This record gives sequence, C-alpha cells and structure tokens, in this order.
Amino acid sequence: MKNILVTGASGFIGSNYLNHILDERDDYNIINLDKLTYAGNLENLKQSENKKNYHFVKGDICNGELVDYLFQKFNIKYVINFAAESHVDRSILGSKVFYETNVIGTNVLLETARRREVEKFLQVSTDEVYGSLGTEGLFTEETPISPNSPYSSSKAAADMMVQAFHHTYGMPVVTTRCSNNYGPFQFPEKLIPLVILNSLSGKKLPVYGDGMNVRDWIYVIDHNKAIDLVFEKGRVGEVYNIGASNEMPNIQIIKLILQYLKKSEDLIEYVKDRPGHDRRYAIDSSKIQNELGWKPEFSFEQAIEHTIEWYLENKQWWQRIISGDYLKYYNLQYNKR
Ligand code: NAD
Ligand code: TYD
Repeated sequence: MKNILVTGASGFIGSNYLNHILDERDDYNIINLDKLTYAGNLENLKQSENKKNYHFVKGDICNGELVDYLFQKFNIKYVINFAAESHVDRSILGSKVFYETNVIGTNVLLETARRREVEKFLQVSTDEVYGSLGTEGLFTEETPISPNSPYSSSKAAADMMVQAFHHTYGMPVVTTRCSNNYGPFQFPEKLIPLVILNSLSGKKLPVYGDGMNVRDWIYVIDHNKAIDLVFEKGRVGEVYNIGASNEMPNIQIIKLILQYLKKSEDLIEYVKDRPGHDRRYAIDSSKIQNELGWKPEFSFEQAIEHTIEWYLENKQWWQRIISGDYLKYYNLQYNKR
C-alpha cells in the first residue's frame, strides 16, 4: 500500500485525479488534505467519498502541526501537492493568500516531508512560471522562469524551493508544469466554464483586451494521466512539461462554445484588459513523451464537446456553486461523523 498525501484534491484538477485514480490503483491509500476555500467542493468527490482507500481531512497546508500529525498518523511516504490559490484575476485583486498557500504552504509540506523521509514529492506546477511568449517558440523545461502575475510568481517561488530541497537535501522531488486545463468540475470563474454558463443564462461574455491572447489547452484527464506517470516513473529532480499542442486565441474558443450552444455572438463584450496579461503560452512536451511515453489521448474537438455536455447535464452542480449551497456539503456529510 502506498500512503499518499494528496493536497487540494477537492478542487478542479485534484478531484478529477482522485475520481480516476482510486478506481485504477487499489494499492493507493489517499489522504486528501484540503482547506475547502471557495474553490474546494466536496461535491466533486461524491463518487469517491465512501471508498475504503480514501480519507478526507479539512485543513490548511500551512498548518505545520496538522501536516506533521497526518504524516505520522497515516505513515505518509508520498506527497502530491495540488493545493493552491489558482486564479490569476484574484491574485491581482489580493496577492497575500497566494504567497501564503502557494509558497509558505509548499514550504511546510517540504519541511515535513524531509523530516519524515518521503519517497516521492510531486509538485503540481504550471506553464505560467515561464512568463509570456511572443508569436514564435515554445516553453521547454530549460526556458528561464520569468513569471508575471502574483499567481505565477508564487508558483515559481514554490518551484524554486522544490528544486532547492532536491539540490540541498537530496529530496526525491519531481515537478510537472502543465498548460491550461478544461473539463468537468472546473470552477466557473475560469474562461471555459464561465463562457458556457454565461451563454446558457444569456449573460455577457467578458473578453479581455483584443481576445487574441493565446492559451494552450489540455483536457484535465490527459493532465492527470501525465501526473500519474510522473509520480510512478518520473526521474527525481526533474521537471516535466505537460501540454497537448492545442494553442488557441481566447476569442476562437468563445465563438466555438457559442456555436455549439447555438447562442448569438452578440453576447461577446470586449472589456478592459487584465493588467499584465500574458500574451501567449505554448508547451513543448517532448520530454515527457520521449522519456515516459505519455501522449494526450483526447482531441480538443472531442473533449470540449464532452465538457460542454457535462455542464449541460450537471446543472445542479453549478447551480449549487452559484447559490453558495455547495459550501454546506461539508457540514452535512462530515461534521456529524
Ligand atoms: P482549484 O483552485 O480548482 O483548486 C485548489 C484546491 O486547493 C481547492 O480544493 C482548495 O480548497 C485547495 N486549497 C487552497 N488553499 C489551500 C490550503 N492553504 N490548504 C489546503 N488546501 C487548499 O485549482 P486547480 O485548477 O485544480 O489547480 C490545481 C493545481 O494545478 C494548482 O497547484 C495549480 O497551480 C495547478 N495548475 C492548474 C492549471 C489549470 O489550468 N487549472 C494548469 C496548470 C497547473
Ligand atoms: P483563465 O481561465 O483565467 O486562465 P489563465 O489566466 O490562468 O490563463 O483565463 C484564460 C484566458 O482567458 C486568459 O487569457 C484571460 C482570458 N479571460 C477572458 O478574456 N475573460 C474572462 O472572463 C476570463 C476569466 C479570462
């Protein structure tokens, strides 16, 4: 049995990871430590919550005492760190909690993991640490770290710390840097779910700047399969870029969603640009492809349709987010246990 502390697994990517991995690997015993911020939603994990090899703990990765207690109680030998404040716009409005969770929280996990002699520590990072590209070129693992937003700078600081713990203490760390994800359970503040839900309710679709900023989109299941592979087979001390070579300007995605939902382009509203808005992200994922044999399995056309359909079929899930009722699920399910 592998006792794995998975942090932030009630959020978008972590919950998709758990819902798949618990079925596939019965040798994993997973402890999900999640603070349940606005982005943490236990309803994402309904299909997993009663599994014997799954445990939920509500708590903060910055709480050293709690983290140490969990390492001891569950004899943790592996860590996958998804927990983060993850939304760029929020980081522009207020950066403190980004540095607390993304930097200090990662430090608490690393220090505890070092003391408790973990066998692998996987840091889930982002391509945003590389900064912004012009019209040419791709991010490779050798691209210098050059973050531009409070969010990306906090993730970059964590990445540097993870590398330093490997270099200084020989800690068995691996880092993944993935491009923009989409799929089921994504919180509707991010571009794709926001556009789907606003279109369905006839609300305006805010397009920042000229709508020509480019992101490199990957389906969340492909990202999680790559994480699983890096966790099992990635070489310690290494960084692996993850991306599906699917660059698209924002306005193109917005029009595609409108077309699929048969809604009018009149909903599009160009608004003031995001301050410091990175122009283009694009990932070269040849290292993970050549070294570990990973490749994306879903085409964008197939997975975006699946994603839109998922939001159409799971109205209750997002209506409970909009009403705030999802925040009550913890009290209903766990407080009485
Ligand atoms: P998310 O915002 O949906 O979820 C974050 C989760 O972390 C939530 O469940 C939240 O409650 C939890 N959390 C926040 N602060 C915490 C704390 N102090 N202690 C414990 N738990 C805490 O984020 P996501 O989109 O699922 O991203 C997960 C990870 O993947 C992040 O590290 C992010 O930087 C990285 N990433 C995201 C993307 C993307 O497109 N979403 C792309 C590349 C990398
Ligand atoms: P987002 O989903 O916030 O991800 P990130 O900023 O981490 O890439 O935004 C994706 C792109 O969409 C980004 O270029 C900003 C843009 N955007 C809009 O134009 N309007 C919006 O309402 C949002 C949320 C994002």
